[in-house]
Amino acid sequence: MNLKQQVGEKAAEYVKEGMVVGLGTGSTAYYMVEALGKRVKEGLTITGVTTSTQTKEQAEKLGIPLKTIDEVETVDLTIDGADEIDANYQGVKGGGGALLFEKIVADYSKKVIWIVDESKMVKTLGAFPLPVEVMPYGSQQLVRIFEGKGFYPTMRKNEDGENYLTDGGHYIIDLHMTKIEDPQSLAEWLDGLTGVMEHGLFLNRVNTIIVGHESGLEIIE
Ligand code: 5RP
Repeated sequence: MNLKQQVGEKAAEYVKEGMVVGLGTGSTAYYMVEALGKRVKEGLTITGVTTSTQTKEQAEKLGIPLKTIDEVETVDLTIDGADEIDANYQGVKGGGGALLFEKIVADYSKKVIWIVDESKMVKTLGAFPLPVEVMPYGSQQLVRIFEGKGFYPTMRKNEDGENYLTDGGHYIIDLHMTKIEDPQSLAEWLDGLTGVMEHGLFLNRVNTIIVGHESGLEIIE
């Protein structure tokens, strides 16, 4: 069993009867959703809140009852993947393009678990390009601003070479910064830019991290 599957299945064990569960997006979250689908078939009653069309389609196939984030009071637990986690447990997410919905669901969750294989654990964020979700209108102006800052922005493209469209109908600009020295001030600066809908810096947003190592699972609380 690969590391992504191991952490996905482990995280699914944290889900208890009656919970409202935020279902993350990506190749690691995929295994957690599969494991939950199996438990639902065995009689577990939960309500899922999905963070993307991709996860929604998977959960529906598995028969996991779903509600939207607006139909629930609160989310008991969200389980999601991450692209990078630094030594202070700050994260970059959005490689799969679902960062806006993922951050919304995480913000209304009582508890958040990230599931990653060991390759995602880094000293400093930035080797993975930082996704910034932007309004199409004015997006080239944002590209110019990022170029001016030396952030090496690229517009994310789909397989047809067109601008990638998120579930929210936005574009993604990936920032190739190599190293993010001060994630907090970068997040604050991005938050203040008109047209930026969300960015992939997830700071102080996780309670538990399950890391898959070749030598076994590590649980960071
Ligand atoms: C999607 C995400 C994913 O959680 C992140 O990209 C990790 O994906 P994977 O588990 O496929 O490596 O943030 O927007």
